[in-house]
Amino acid sequence: MQSFEDTLCQVLAENKGKRVVCFCYEGQKYWLKQVEQQKGAEKFLKPFPTKAIQLEIKRLKWLNQRHVPTAQLVYSGDDYFVTTDVGDCVSQLLQNSDKSEDEKQQVIAQSAQKLAELHNKNLVHGRPAIRDITYLNNQVYFIDFEAKSLFSSLYYQKRRDVIVFFYSMFQAKIDEKYIHIAMQNYAKTNPENWQASLNLLKRLSFIYYICLPFKSVARSDLISIYGLFEVLLDK
Ligand SMILES: Nc1ncnc2c1ncn2[C@@H]1O[C@H](COP(=O)(O)OP(=O)(O)O)[C@@H](O)[C@H]1O
Ligand SMILES: [Mg+2]
Repeated sequence: MQSFEDTLCQVLAENKGKRVVCFCYEGQKYWLKQVEQQKGAEKFLKPFPTKAIQLEIKRLKWLNQRHVPTAQLVYSGDDYFVTTDVGDCVSQLLQNSDKSEDEKQQVIAQSAQKLAELHNKNLVHGRPAIRDITYLNNQVYFIDFEAKSLFSSLYYQKRRDVIVFFYSMFQAKIDEKYIHIAMQNYAKTNPENWQASLNLLKRLSFIYYICLPFKSVARSDLISIYGLFEVLLDK
């Protein structure tokens, strides 16, 4: 029988340059993530792709040691790593899956609750969009943690996580009832950061008023911004 390393070599050879691919070994699903292939201006914006993947490996080890709900690192090389499968993206699951309504509500409630629990433990994700939150066997997982910013405080980063999380729901155009469920569950689990995030959003309300005259002609990103202010701040 082929070893895990042989299978991985084959997957690497067949998927040169692909950012993420999923493969199977002995009936288990794994994900291979490789260095980002950059085109044009990206070379200047993200100049050290190998360094970035090494940082991601280091961060994953750190998170795994602390039992944070994320994928387990199982193998790594200079410019790639392999993790265990942690299921389907919450964004897809809420929109077009055969899951029951009850389960969908449970998935979004748990996503908000787990994010609030991360923040209670002084951990931040960096960009917890619902496409980077997954669900497997009744458990929610966070993937693709961003680097911890050296320039902003934990207090700021937690509030930014909340805003990014909710913004991603408007962007994914999920039903507003799920957003309300997420709001209730985050607020219940971490009332302090919930209030701090709402206060930050209130301070940013001028953006909403600047954008308001364009509401009738607004496109997707701007519509998500209106949603964020209108639903969270009940405008
Ligand atoms: N361990 C994993 N389990 C389940 N899905 C995964 C896993 N790793 C990656 N994915 C899928 O691949 C997508 C891209 O992976 P991600 O790590 O977010 O790459 P990128 O940095 O390019 O955004 C994710 O949004 C998710 O759908
Ligand atoms: Mg991602």
